[in-house]
Formats: sequence, structure tokens, C-alpha cells
Amino acid sequence: MATTIRLGVLGAGIMGRRVAAAAVGTGRFEVVAVADADRVRAESLAGEYGASAHGGVADLCAVPDLDAVYVGLPHALHLEACAAAAAAGVHVLVDKPLCTTAAEADRIGALAAASDRVWMVGFSYRYRAEWQRAQQIIAGGELGLPYFVLDTAIEAYVSTPGWYWDAAAGGGTIQLQSHHSFDRIAWLIDSDATGVSCRIVRPPGSAEVSAQISATYRSGLVAGISLSFGRTYDAVPRTLFVLQAERGMLEIDEDRTLRVTTADGVLTESHADDDWLGHELGAFAGAVDGDGFPFPGIAAGRAALQCALAAERAATSDSWMVPDA
Ligand SMILES: NC(=O)c1ccc[n+]([C@@H]2O[C@H](COP(=O)([O-])OP(=O)(O)OC[C@H]3O[C@@H](n4cnc5c(N)ncnc54)[C@H](O)[C@@H]3O)[C@@H](O)[C@H]2O)c1
Repeated sequence: MATTIRLGVLGAGIMGRRVAAAAVGTGRFEVVAVADADRVRAESLAGEYGASAHGGVADLCAVPDLDAVYVGLPHALHLEACAAAAAAGVHVLVDKPLCTTAAEADRIGALAAASDRVWMVGFSYRYRAEWQRAQQIIAGGELGLPYFVLDTAIEAYVSTPGWYWDAAAGGGTIQLQSHHSFDRIAWLIDSDATGVSCRIVRPPGSAEVSAQISATYRSGLVAGISLSFGRTYDAVPRTLFVLQAERGMLEIDEDRTLRVTTADGVLTESHADDDWLGHELGAFAGAVDGDGFPFPGIAAGRAALQCALAAERAATSDSWMVPDA
């Protein structure tokens, strides 16, 4: 019988709270420690699970008998958290993005390579039922070769944390959102990006709030990735993913409806009630158990990062960029 995984949660913010609940919901994890620089947050979340509360990464990683950590911190802190987790010899689920610079990715890659633990990156879309169905349909070949993608996410929340708009903390819509887009496109079409161009909107004193990205893929596909945030009002998020292939079109909308159109007709599936974060945590537990199922690791995190960095370079240099390896 699989043993309970003793989990430490680094960051008691939006995702830390959600991941703690999802982890416990799988029946495979016990949340034993929570760390947050905001002591009130750390104690509040820890109190819900009878866990210990800590002010920082190092304190949490010193907790005895810890098996795994979830890293849900501002992006510029992901390397420090990964280094502490590696020193503690625990399994790591680091939320996207893996980190925000190539040098950081090199360091995390070296830590992971020297470790015999699981290093998973939180590319949640791979665990959403509608995206998994899309991946199966595309891999099954019934649509033929995909040649075009439109990937759009337009959101507006007053409550977004301040660091989301602080470039020094790793904020901005390229680092916040494009990693998801780059990862899910590469995963869906099983091909990697060969070129990226990008235009951004960056208000004074802020990281960019909008990015209009074009990307080309080795398979021949071209993608348009449109990402935008509003910060002074709340709105229903608008997301739309459309993939066109030789023999059909596949769409996923913000209601989590998958629609596949071919010459034979239209297939429509709703996955609105699917517990994607539970599936992600379940996959992490499975990887810790050594179940052999593939999961997004450091290489996937690095690939998405290199595309995001190419987008940042393209935005400042006014030219197409080739993502580094
Ligand atoms: N997978 C998804 O769908 C998804 C969705 C949203 C966010 N995310 C990712 O989750 C991660 C966390 O984002 P969030 O939205 O929860 O942010 P958040 O701001 O809500 O949470 C981050 C927490 O870290 C704490 N913190 C800041 N500095 C710290 C330090 N030095 N030591 C300890 N704690 C510190 C903050 O007080 C805050 O509570 C990011 O990587 C983000 O991109 C993923």
C-alpha cells in the first residue's frame, strides 16, 4: 500500500491554499508544514491542517521527515526554494514557471540531475480533462497534421498579488502566462518552437500586462498567442484555444468545453466539473511512488522558459528570436 506523503507547502498564497486542499483531497498527502513570509498567512493555512507554520523556505525544509515540497512562491524565489528542497532530499513540485532566467534553469537542472527525487513542474493544463482529450485526439491522428493554433487568455482581477506586476519578482504576463501556452502547444503537437516574435504593452512602473506572441514550430505549425491582464476591475476570464489541422478543428473555451469539428460532424464535450488540480497532485503522488507515467519535468520547464525568454528578447529587439536549447 502506498504511504502517505508528508508535504511542505512553500507559499500560502492563492496556489498554496489550493494545492494544499487538492493534495489532501487525493488521500495521498498530509500537509505537515507551511511557510510564508506573511506569518499570518502561514499560520492560517497551517492551522487548517494541523501543520507547523514557518516564515521562510530554509525553516520549512529543516522540518524532520518531510517527503515533498510544493513551491508556490513569486517566480524570482523558485531557485532558492529548489536549492533548499534539494539539500533536504525531498521530492519537488514547482509551480510554473520553473524559474525566470536561463542561469537559474541551469542551476535547478543540475540540482535535479544530482538528486534521485521527483522534480515535477506544475504545467496544470496537462492534467485538465479537456486538454488530455485534445492531446489524445491529436496524437490519434484523426485530425491529420495540425498547422495553426490560436491561444488566447484575457483576464482581469483586482486581487492579483502586487508581485505579478513587478519584473524584479519575475512578474509580467510573459512569465505568468506564456509558459502555460508554450508548454501546452508543444505537448499537444509533440513539436518544439523554432522562432518567436512578440509585442508587449508595459505601463509605466510595471511589468508588461499584455503580450502578442507569434511562434513557429518544427512541425510546420504557426501559433498566435494573445495574453492580457486587466488590474483595476474584475471580469469573467476569456480564454480560447483553437487548433486547425488537415482534417479538422479543435477548440477549448473558458467553460472547459472541447469541440472537435471534422467532415463527419461536431463532437462536443463539457469538462467543467473536472478536478484538474487533484489530477495534478495525484500524478505527483504517482511519480513519487514510481508509477512510470510521464510527467512534465525540468526539461519541459526549461523548454517553456527558453520560449518565454525568446519572447522577451523579441519584444525588446523588434525581431524574431530562436529559443535557446
Ligand atoms: N498552475 C496554475 O494554474 C497557476 C495559477 C496561478 C498561479 N500559479 C503559479 O503559482 C505560483 C504562486 O503564485 P500565487 O498566485 O499563489 O501567488 P501569491 O502571491 O498568491 O502567493 C505567493 C506567496 O508567497 C509568499 N512569499 C513571498 N515572498 C516570500 C518569501 N521570501 N518566503 C516565503 N514566502 C514568501 C507571499 O506572501 C504569498 O503568500 C507562481 O509560480 C504562479 O505562477 C499557477
